[in-house]
Amino acid sequence: MSTLLPLNVVVLAAGAGTRMKSALPKVLHCLAGKPLLKHVIDTAQLLKPTQLCVVYGHGGDQVRDLLAQTTVLWVEQAQQLGTGHAVAQAMPRLPDEAITLVLYGDVPLIKDQTLAELIRLASDGSLAVLTLHLQNPQGYGRIVRNVHGEVERIVEEKDASPAQKQITEINTGMLAVQNKKLRGWLSQLKNNNAQGEYYLTDIIALAVADGVTVRTSHPADESEVLGVNSRNQLAQLERSYQRACAEQYMQQGVTFLDPARVDFRGEVVFGRDVTVDVNVVFSGRVVVGNNVSIGANCSISDATLADGVEILPLCVIEQATVGANSRVGPYSRLRPGVILAGDNHIGNFVEIKNSQIGPGSKVNHLSYVGDTQMGGKVNIGAGTITANYDGANKHQTIIEDNASTGSNSVLVAPVTIGKGATIGAGSVITKTAPAGKLTLTRSKQVTIDGWQRPTKKL
Ligand code: UD1
Ligand code: CA
Repeated sequence: MSTLLPLNVVVLAAGAGTRMKSALPKVLHCLAGKPLLKHVIDTAQLLKPTQLCVVYGHGGDQVRDLLAQTTVLWVEQAQQLGTGHAVAQAMPRLPDEAITLVLYGDVPLIKDQTLAELIRLASDGSLAVLTLHLQNPQGYGRIVRNVHGEVERIVEEKDASPAQKQITEINTGMLAVQNKKLRGWLSQLKNNNAQGEYYLTDIIALAVADGVTVRTSHPADESEVLGVNSRNQLAQLERSYQRACAEQYMQQGVTFLDPARVDFRGEVVFGRDVTVDVNVVFSGRVVVGNNVSIGANCSISDATLADGVEILPLCVIEQATVGANSRVGPYSRLRPGVILAGDNHIGNFVEIKNSQIGPGSKVNHLSYVGDTQMGGKVNIGAGTITANYDGANKHQTIIEDNASTGSNSVLVAPVTIGKGATIGAGSVITKTAPAGKLTLTRSKQVTIDGWQRPTKKL
């Protein structure tokens, strides 16, 4: 019977990341729009640990600042004396009656299911190590087993004999064990090895000497345990992550015209029969209804696109809701706080900010609509601008149902355009335009008889 012990997680993130050639600490580089370390912390949190420790060193202030919202225990490792030394720094913060899981801040794609299995293996008092068979094991610590197939120790590449270098089962670095045992073994570590470091991996031989069983489990996919050491590896891991996302969404019924040319930097919920053209970037939380089509080169973040929406190419949509059967683009920008009720047409070179647009209303060409409450069936003429800013404050524009504005009108807020009102082209509206009437502010058109165009002076 396994005992249900509380969980400690220790994330090692003190390394310099020299090969990144960056002023930014390695663990703050982003994969899918999120810092590597944040991926690991988010996954660890799914396991509901009672203690979550991050061991930091290089660029410590930057790491702590960028992840200020995250509630973790920060432990400094001032000098990087090895992975065993790093884990030892966290020991004063960790209760003994718990299982401790060791993770790496630069191994971002590890899955919670894989870790849950590792913890399960450790729950009977065993030392559980996550290992993997690799065709090319070079650079990794190797799992040394005895003739019965039992794990005896881990040998680092730099300390391995030619025969040990032939072993293809590698140490991913991740392991789980009861904290009391871990504490004892860490205190016995020595640094008499090729790198002069206190190796965490040496605890395996100490466990065997203590008669503790060493168990191994494996990740479902190799990418789960791949670490980031260089920008090239980061780019490779980004692509494999993006490919996996696209595969998963395709299985749910989404068509990508090219699954290699779409990026997910957050979480998308897709309906059925959605088509996504090339170079679309989804960020944050996006909800897409059924029968939606998204044209090429769009950026969509924290948005909702209801059923039947058509987004034409080159749109930027951020913190906005697009109601059912609306058509947006090409070249439209919906900024935070926009709610399109449905059946709307938003056309080229139109920018809308913090505005509600009623059902069936159209803003088809070259407009700015900001801080506006617009009713239904309104038609906004080409080049209509809401002048919402007086240089100090923002003001509201109200446009009631069935109103229509002529081309090149300026609505100077605060102002109301009444129900069914029509605004003549080229007007500058500063007072309420009454319902059902034509309002215009320009002077009458005159024709000057006998006028002549100036001629060029010789
Ligand atoms: C380690 C393992 C190796 C395994 C490999 C998997 C040891 C001795 N070796 O080797 O068996 O195959 O990971 O990738 O554990 N770190 C600290 N403080 C330190 C040293 C390292 O926080 O003093 C952190 C690093 O930032 C990094 C992680 O620990 O995130 C691993 O350290 P690294 O030096 O890259 O270990 P490897 O030599 O790759
Ligand atoms: Ca190393």
